[in-house]
Amino acid sequence: MPYENLRVERQDAIARITFDRPKVLNALNRKTMEELDACLDEAARDDSVRALILTGAGEKAFVAGADIGELAQRTPVDGKEFSLYGQSVLRKLETIGKPSIAAINGYALGGGCELALACTLRIASRTAKLGQPEVKLGILPGYGGTQRLARLCGRGVAARLVLTGEIISAEEALGIGLVNQVVEPAELLPAAEALAGKILANAPLAVRYSLEAIDRGLEMPQEQGLFLEATLFGLLCATEDMREGTRAFLEKRAPQFKNR
Ligand code: COA
Repeated sequence: MPYENLRVERQDAIARITFDRPKVLNALNRKTMEELDACLDEAARDDSVRALILTGAGEKAFVAGADIGELAQRTPVDGKEFSLYGQSVLRKLETIGKPSIAAINGYALGGGCELALACTLRIASRTAKLGQPEVKLGILPGYGGTQRLARLCGRGVAARLVLTGEIISAEEALGIGLVNQVVEPAELLPAAEALAGKILANAPLAVRYSLEAIDRGLEMPQEQGLFLEATLFGLLCATEDMREGTRAFLEKRAPQFKNR
């Protein structure tokens, strides 16, 4: 389906979603969020899509946040709805059951940083800059930033970034665990594709349930998380791909996974 503010390209099993409003540094307006919502539904339905790469158009920005022009009009009632809707779209991304990689090619601020946080993994260009500057606008991160940043990097880091609104370099983001890897700008998409490729070489159901165990487990006491892990482990023991993976190892050959 063609979108106005997103470009979606396929490369084998990878769908690349590019946020494409470069005049406003790819800021997320309502239309873009609705398009992302629809695009994620499409990707969820399409079994041939097994990984997502999200990036921004142009060289300057990944996504420079929610669209401040639209934000300025918010009332208390629709401000809450705006936040809940954005949260639901990013939760859909987080729980789609397919790994997603944010290829952060420039500014990832506010909603842009939150979008990256909802992805499974994050690779940044050396020139990228990240932050949650919402307090400078009199608001707070409303697309899950207060929750995911604290879970990913700890409450001290979250408090520092959210309360100061400070914008940090890719190197600093790497140091605090906000991004997994930093590469030269020209290497960003190849690095994201290579990372996706490493995941895609593995048994698809094992990848899917690992994602679920990590995501759901984080919301549970450890005892319950361990039980979930054991249950999913048992489920994977019933798959053809588990038989194939273990047999291929013992026969010293590459496995042929079938997503079954
Ligand atoms: N929403 C709407 N428009 C935005 C935007 C946003 N989040 N971020 C940037 N833009 C627009 C600017 O208004 C400008 O438009 P103009 O050319 O019509 O004036 C254009 O994008 C280019 O941005 P500009 O500010 O001129 O670029 P810069 O290099 O001087 O600064 C930033 C880059 C990212 C530091 C700066 O744009 C910025 O602080 N953006 C807002 C970041 C933010 O607070 N995000 C959280 C929102 S909740």
